[in-house]
Amino acid sequence: MRILSGIQPSGALHIGNYFGMMRPSIELQEQGEAYYFIADYHSMTSLYDAGQRRRNTLDVALDFLACGLDPKRAVFFRQSDVPEHCELTWLLSTVTPMGLLERCHSYKDKTASGLPVNHGLFAYPVLMAADILIYDSNVVPVGRDQKQHVEVTRDIAIKFNEAYGQTFVLPEPRTRDEVAVVPGTDGRKMSKSYGNTVEIFGDEKAVRAKVMSIVMDSRSMEEAKPDAGENNAIKLLRLVASAEIAGDIEAKLAAGGYGYGTLKKALFEQCWNYFTAQRARRKELEASLDYVHDVLRDGAERARTVASKVLKRARVASGLE
Ligand code: ADP
Ligand code: TRP
Repeated sequence: MRILSGIQPSGALHIGNYFGMMRPSIELQEQGEAYYFIADYHSMTSLYDAGQRRRNTLDVALDFLACGLDPKRAVFFRQSDVPEHCELTWLLSTVTPMGLLERCHSYKDKTASGLPVNHGLFAYPVLMAADILIYDSNVVPVGRDQKQHVEVTRDIAIKFNEAYGQTFVLPEPRTRDEVAVVPGTDGRKMSKSYGNTVEIFGDEKAVRAKVMSIVMDSRSMEEAKPDAGENNAIKLLRLVASAEIAGDIEAKLAAGGYGYGTLKKALFEQCWNYFTAQRARRKELEASLDYVHDVLRDGAERARTVASKVLKRARVASGLE
């Protein structure tokens, strides 16, 4: 089984990224041949600061390695170190119907919210299709918001296969119901673009402030809250605390006499403790940047070996060779 996923270096990673994409990817590295990459080409659709891109790229590498990505098991690389992705994007774009891209939520949401859009953003699912197809990937672990892009990838692969004969493997998205959408501090999906994130490696004060700012209803401490299981803080608590601790707090809220302030303090503590080992590992990695660069260089080399073979298959199938 070949597993592939990517993440954009567009800002500090948050616990939505962690539970939606990073942890599932890290767990899957045990079960097959995994390819994970930092999608720096993708970040160009929305980030125009070169220095920031370099810093973010290194940060994502540190974050992912600190969280448990094992470069001995998974091939870990930077997308732009494998420029074959871009050539395949062109081949795929010529079999991609406009309507398919016009239906993509990522593009529709940005236009609907009045943000300026560029061709790169519109065409981004084709680049993502190339990322996936160029490794003959079977399984793509992502959060729910990315599922549509994997389905688009399948449609594009089918179109290419119909036009030029069997060339690409059809991938499947892998989302987990319990973490498909991690809520942010305002109750919407946690996302960098909404400013409602809790960072994985934020400093203690900032993380505490974010947790304390979670929007709750206005019921007093005394009131019984039989619907406690539905609130955002409990949803986050279930991710970072044991079932016993989360269940106990939920029962106290339901009984009354337990307030949201106490809930949030407990959530902060559980959240902070959850990432203790990862924080220590990240510190070590920060002190060995040469190692991190070596990992990415080695990953790019291994990725390129596969990518160039699959690209050649597509070039031959389509008569470029
Ligand atoms: P953001 O919305 O913060 O910009 P990205 O779109 O870069 O995050 O997402 C990177 C990965 O993390 C994707 O696989 C995405 O599905 C996953 N992800 C992001 N936010 C969440 C969330 N709130 N819940 C679950 N998964 C998420
Ligand atoms: N588009 C994804 C995101 O914004 C990142 C990504 C790029 C990706 N290429 C991919 C994810 C291929 C999975 C597979 O989160």
